[in-house]
Amino acid sequence: MYLLTVVGNLTIVTLVCMVSQLHTPMYFFLCNLSSSDIVFVTVTLPKLLSIFLTQDHTITFDGCITQLYFFLICGQAEIFILTCMAYDRYVAICKPLQYSLIMNKVVCFVMAAFSWLTGILNSLLHALIASSLPFCYSLEIDHFFCDLKTLGMLSASESKNRDILTSVQSVFIGCVPFLLIVVSYVYIISTILKIQSSNGRLKAFSSCTSHLTTVVLFYGPIIFLYMKPENDRSREDDKLLSILYVVVVPMLNPFVYSLRNKDILGAIAKIKQYLKKV
Ligand SMILES: *[C@@H]1O[C@H](CO)[C@@H](O)[C@H](O)[C@H]1NC(C)=O
Repeated sequence: MYLLTVVGNLTIVTLVCMVSQLHTPMYFFLCNLSSSDIVFVTVTLPKLLSIFLTQDHTITFDGCITQLYFFLICGQAEIFILTCMAYDRYVAICKPLQYSLIMNKVVCFVMAAFSWLTGILNSLLHALIASSLPFCYSLEIDHFFCDLKTLGMLSASESKNRDILTSVQSVFIGCVPFLLIVVSYVYIISTILKIQSSNGRLKAFSSCTSHLTTVVLFYGPIIFLYMKPENDRSREDDKLLSILYVVVVPMLNPFVYSLRNKDILGAIAKIKQYLKKV
């Protein structure tokens, strides 16, 4: 699964960089998403595999914090990039005539840079806080990678400030982007419903299905994991759900975008032709 994820996402990155028909905002954002997916699985899965192979269940403290740091960067960048993509679809469907004006290169670049930079800075903050927590109860991580929740649980300190920080963050990083995506889709769907011909409706809608699928795949497990009350489920269910978003979702993304997608299939055909000539 790790290899499949890396190869699948690398293929998307390569295609978007090489084929000029894919030099559009949507595919640039997709390229960002795929790069993030590659880092996301690379910080978690090789360590998990080495635990399976060597039966050595330990991780160094620095390793743990590094894993946490990159995991958070990618998680946040993905949330913001998915939001940018939703906005891109909104402009493409609701304001098609102004599309190239609104989604110009500078705007896209600023949106992508904002996604990455906030991720990097915010994760740095979390990593610094986590690395200064006093761990006195136990040093046993009840998970297959170091995430914020598990590390927080290990620590003996019951810090009010940290709780406030976490709540403010979950509003800004969890809820606001999600609401923006929902609002975009409300506009998109109401615009699509106004289209007269059923053919046109189908065409407009099919340009959003890949993005919508990714959003559902990405947010489904997260909402399930974080919205339910703490004691409702066992830790084992939590781990199973995080397998879904750490392993399965990054693996599925390239397939969601390439199957039935004429642009990507066309790009693959083009590369094949090119390779034949060489
Ligand atoms: C991310 O998206 C921006 C804006 O569209 C683009 O300029 C940049 O090349 C992309 N970066 C990666 C690594 O995909």
